[in-house]
Amino acid sequence: MTSRASNKLDGKVAIVTGGASGIGEETVRRLATHGAYVVIADIQDEKGRDLAASIGSHQCTYIHCDVTDEQQVKSLVESTLLQSNGRLDILFSNAGIVNDVKQDILEFNIPAFESLFAVNVRGMAACVKHGARAMVAGAIKGSIICTASIRASTGNENLVDYTMSKHAVLGLVRSASKQLGAYGIRVNCVSPGAVATPLLCRVHGLSEEEGERMTESSSCLKGALKAKHVADAVVFLASEEAEFINGHNLAVDGGWQDRVSRGDFK
Ligand SMILES: NC(=O)c1ccc[n+]([C@@H]2O[C@H](COP(=O)([O-])OP(=O)(O)OC[C@H]3O[C@@H](n4cnc5c(N)ncnc54)[C@H](O)[C@@H]3O)[C@@H](O)[C@H]2O)c1
Repeated sequence: MTSRASNKLDGKVAIVTGGASGIGEETVRRLATHGAYVVIADIQDEKGRDLAASIGSHQCTYIHCDVTDEQQVKSLVESTLLQSNGRLDILFSNAGIVNDVKQDILEFNIPAFESLFAVNVRGMAACVKHGARAMVAGAIKGSIICTASIRASTGNENLVDYTMSKHAVLGLVRSASKQLGAYGIRVNCVSPGAVATPLLCRVHGLSEEEGERMTESSSCLKGALKAKHVADAVVFLASEEAEFINGHNLAVDGGWQDRVSRGDFK
């Protein structure tokens, strides 16, 4: 069961893709503590179900959804609408991956690039499409938030495909916000710096503790960037406090220092 932080999202219905782990998991918890009913969408069924159970069935549920499959995304939105009397107010499109292989341009692995784009770009677009369609059909002035990255605005010689994918997320947000603004639907993104989630620790071959240390030294701000900081930014963008913020890329990076690409970390 969650204890209440506020009631500012009371009555709102939210979907969080990639909600079983890391930034998504923390955002699920935060949305619920502010009163929203949250649908976790992920491919890690056990983690997703455990998280939903820990929050409580009155406020959270889990639906298996592989975002690379548009039909599953469509079903996710339809199932959510069935459970919520046709309401979808908040979509946090957050599912994303990083390839285990080094992706520099001279050795660029095209099949790996395509698999990554299927999640980070095609999956993101499918979620925005079907989430937005539901909001338009229900005349809901909803809020769509995508997870981009500091890599949406900077280069990286070893993660070329990931960097390309996050630039694409920015293009999606900027374009969709122009079209959906006419319906009162806002589309924004958050761009986290390094957060010691399972994704980041795996890609750098770090333990959770080492990952925490790395994140501590990658921003100009004293302390470490945590998933909860990103989640708070998402809650802000989802809430009426951000009612006239649209097409915005909100950096949550403590003032990023580009130490990973300078080779300070493996
Ligand atoms: N951790 C960081 O430093 C960092 C920085 C910037 C941006 N991001 C972005 O944040 C988002 C969340 O990443 P995280 O760090 O919390 O990682 P994470 O691995 O902890 O969480 C990602 C979640 O996405 C899910 N997922 C993966 N493929 C999926 C698919 N096809 N369909 C549905 N769900 C799928 C995973 O199962 C997992 O639960 C990603 O988009 C990532 O690119 C992370």
